[in-house]
Amino acid sequence: MSLVKLQSRLENTLPDGRLEVLPVPGYRAIKLALINADFSTGPLPQAVMNAVIEKPAYWAFCWGSGIALARYLRTHKEIVSGLRVLDLGSGSGIVAIAACLNEARLVVACDTDPDARLAIEVNAAINSVSIVTTGNASGHFDIALLADVLYDPCNQEILEKSRTLADTVLVADSRVKQAPQGFRQFDSMSAPTFPNLGEFDEFRTVRFFRSH
Ligand SMILES: C[S@@+](CC[C@H](N)C(=O)[O-])C[C@H]1O[C@@H](n2cnc3c(N)ncnc32)[C@H](O)[C@@H]1O
Repeated sequence: MSLVKLQSRLENTLPDGRLEVLPVPGYRAIKLALINADFSTGPLPQAVMNAVIEKPAYWAFCWGSGIALARYLRTHKEIVSGLRVLDLGSGSGIVAIAACLNEARLVVACDTDPDARLAIEVNAAINSVSIVTTGNASGHFDIALLADVLYDPCNQEILEKSRTLADTVLVADSRVKQAPQGFRQFDSMSAPTFPNLGEFDEFRTVRFFRSH
């Protein structure tokens, strides 16, 4: 079963990590295979630290921005309903799954990490939704959704790429405080990462930006 395969991918980075299928706080209808909620946040052995830096298992967490955007789609279904949706930097697939549950016509989840693509497939099956996965998005979409992808300045190019792929781009991010050029902030929401990473409070406010 793919969950077993995904568990072994997690152990490549975090040998003591254990996958659990958990309901997402604030959107409990979505269940995801994530790292055990009681995982140790204490100092890691050097070898594990190196593995975390080299190959971070972002997909084993549901990031605050992903949770916030999924919740926003639930209350503003019209953002995705009937549309072709691209989730860029999909991680666990939380946003792609929320788009499916809120009646998107087609959902493509893009992540450069092959382990994330496996996680998206596992999580799509858990939630009985259909998502196309890719490591390199192409084609044309009505809307592109980016949740917590701009954490690294090197990822800025993904924002430019998203504008060539979709008519509208919607960004949810707790680290970006000013609207990127060509975007305007339209809302915000508080949501911590799950399982809890003990992030500073300032990273719990997720801002929503929309291209214009
Ligand atoms: C912090 S995680 C956020 C995952 C998810 N959106 C959420 O909110 O839980 C960022 C994800 O973006 C992916 N990523 C980074 N750069 C990317 C790129 N250029 N194209 C596609 N995915 C990328 C990473 O592999 C990682 O899975």
